[in-house]
Amino acid sequence: MSTFIVMLGPPGAGKGTQAKRIARELGLPHVSSGDIFRENLKNKTELGELAETYMNRGELVPDGVTIAMIKDRLSREDCGDGAILDGFPRTPAQAKALDQMLSEMDAQVDTVPYINVPDQVLIKRLTGRWTCPECGHMYHEEFNPPVEDLVCDNDGAELYQREDDKPETVKNRISVYREQTQPLIDYYEKQGVLTEIDGDQEISEVTDELLSILS
Ligand code: AP5
Repeated sequence: MSTFIVMLGPPGAGKGTQAKRIARELGLPHVSSGDIFRENLKNKTELGELAETYMNRGELVPDGVTIAMIKDRLSREDCGDGAILDGFPRTPAQAKALDQMLSEMDAQVDTVPYINVPDQVLIKRLTGRWTCPECGHMYHEEFNPPVEDLVCDNDGAELYQREDDKPETVKNRISVYREQTQPLIDYYEKQGVLTEIDGDQEISEVTDELLSILS
């Protein structure tokens, strides 16, 4: 039996941080739409160039390309037992497409942890985020700093700040989330799979709460 978990929450809620931790714990792949777009951007693919124009403005990449990209990712062998989805779905059309994809795999969305965090905390988290270009580990200059300034603890690579973490873009990302992604709370509540989690606590406390829900 497979297990598909959808991490829901505003930008900066900690979806990526938590998805990595629970993926390790549960032995499932972490499928992040944002990471796949950024990987394409780094490799200068056509998809990466298309996505960049939307990402840098804090807007959503069109549903058609995003759905096709995730469908391709979920069809790979490592998703046979399930996956932790982070950043997808983000619109009602994407949520319906995911239901369809999973039903073709004899699977379904099993649990949707909705990580809730107040807006003022989100802005502080995103504008202070630093990421490793090699292993993708995320740090925060105040809440979760590396041992040595701007250097990844895991592999020594120089950390970078995401282009879309500038204050103006962050504000737009949050309002795009409110308009286009928030309706999914209702969508998954109606399916009986949504569980709200207080994301405004220590990273390890959020992980413990998540793991207790998922076990
Ligand atoms: P994406 O990469 O998915 O970004 P996002 O959803 O905006 O989420 P973030 O990665 O910014 O935040 P997060 O919730 O993962 O928080 P994190 O763990 O990093 O998408 C980027 C763009 O790609 C979109 O704007 C769009 O253009 C495009 N895109 C992606 N998916 C798409 C889709 N499905 N459809 C269309 N377009 C799509 O944590 C943030 C910071 O806070 C870190 O520094 C971390 O260390 C810190 N932190 C985390 N938890 C805590 C805590 N509990 N306490 C203190 N600090 C914490």
